[in-house]
Amino acid sequence: MRAAGVARGPVPTSIRPPRPSPTWSPALHAPAVDPAPPLADGLRDASLRALALGRSVAGTTAPNPAVGCVLLRDGAVVGEGATAPAGGPHAEVVALRAAGDRAVGATAVTTLEPCAHTGRTGPCTAALVDAGVAAVRYLVPDPNPVAAGGGAVLRAAGVDAGPLDAPDLAAWAVEDLRGFLTLVATGRPHVLLKLAQDRDGGTVPSPGGYLTGTAARRRVHALRAEVDAVLVGGATVRADDPRLDVRDVPHDAGRQPRPVVLTAGADLPPTARLLGRRPLVVVGPGAEPARCAALVAAGAEVVRVDGGPEGPDPAAALAALPAHGVLTVLAEPGSRLAARLLAADLVDVAELHVAGGTPRTAALPLPGPRLVAADDVAVGPDRVLRFVRPGVA
Ligand SMILES: NC(=O)c1ccc[n+]([C@@H]2O[C@H](COP(=O)([O-])OP(=O)(O)OC[C@H]3O[C@@H](n4cnc5c(N)ncnc54)[C@H](OP(=O)(O)O)[C@@H]3O)[C@@H](O)[C@H]2O)c1
Repeated sequence: MRAAGVARGPVPTSIRPPRPSPTWSPALHAPAVDPAPPLADGLRDASLRALALGRSVAGTTAPNPAVGCVLLRDGAVVGEGATAPAGGPHAEVVALRAAGDRAVGATAVTTLEPCAHTGRTGPCTAALVDAGVAAVRYLVPDPNPVAAGGGAVLRAAGVDAGPLDAPDLAAWAVEDLRGFLTLVATGRPHVLLKLAQDRDGGTVPSPGGYLTGTAARRRVHALRAEVDAVLVGGATVRADDPRLDVRDVPHDAGRQPRPVVLTAGADLPPTARLLGRRPLVVVGPGAEPARCAALVAAGAEVVRVDGGPEGPDPAAALAALPAHGVLTVLAEPGSRLAARLLAADLVDVAELHVAGGTPRTAALPLPGPRLVAADDVAVGPDRVLRFVRPGVA
């Protein structure tokens, strides 16, 4: 087992370092207040605010990206917006509506390059040009072949458009947009796989117990708070009856990840606790219709995809999720399904939570051909080994 470095210090209860906030107070919901307060560092603060706006709608926009947009004129904010749920206006259009006439001559700061295509809504590039916006700065170029090229379209229309030269802000935007960016690149959501093990590679806890300690389990809840869905297999539901919700860490009370269960036979107990949380149950071709109907009656949404006797094809199961509002997944299965996901190259980031310290045997073949060691952190008495696909947030 190789690791890139050991972070020492206080136990991380949040999975990400804190980010700075805009230096101005967000009197931004009052674009009618004129003049709005000037900005100390206009583009940077506007970018931080756009990032915060995008994060505020994370989990509500799939399959569209959760984007934020701020409009500046003469150093003051004249409008802001975030992507509405799919079918609604994109962030740029929300901000333009808020700004009204004050968008003329403004600079739009967005977390993602404005789209140049007509989907369920019109192209944002046209809305920006029509509103008389003078300049556009974005943190991440749009990789979507259907919608890309917004910067060039804007420049052709006489708008001073281009990426903002701020690598740290761009890295945060890539992290926030990782679900959308992974979807464009692979056709499936971003997948973070977590597996707990003891030092000898054992992954099955004693009945009713846990392998790892409180701090590592709090980290899992912090990971859950960052994703649209938490995924397990049918055997884990039968063995552990998990709820798969966020508890014990600060989180947005209105946002809980949706449970997703992969199962061949749809054989889940009608009393399973996660059935009360509107789970998506993904079944293979062999699942009996009567069992599926019973799960629907118990509160689940059942999705049937291709597969074999083992269950739904994991790639097909994941590819079905964005249509159900899922762009980011925390996979928390047992070792069997975890190995399947890894072998099928469906994992972007993996965490091994090793009870009691450095492992003698790893429960999964990590690092591997796709995932390289990125972090090795002490979390209470346990260790978290993190592996990432190079180039992925
Ligand atoms: N250490 C940890 O982090 C951790 C986490 C979760 C669970 N566990 C433990 O792990 C044990 C269960 O392990 P597990 O690996 O069987 O977990 P699992 O998470 O239930 O995954 C296996 C199940 O996934 C379903 N499945 C669907 N498609 C599949 C496919 N293509 N290939 C394989 N499985 C597919 C099957 O459900 P059906 O049988 O319904 O068809 C299968 O039983 C339990 O004892 C649990 O307590 C440990």
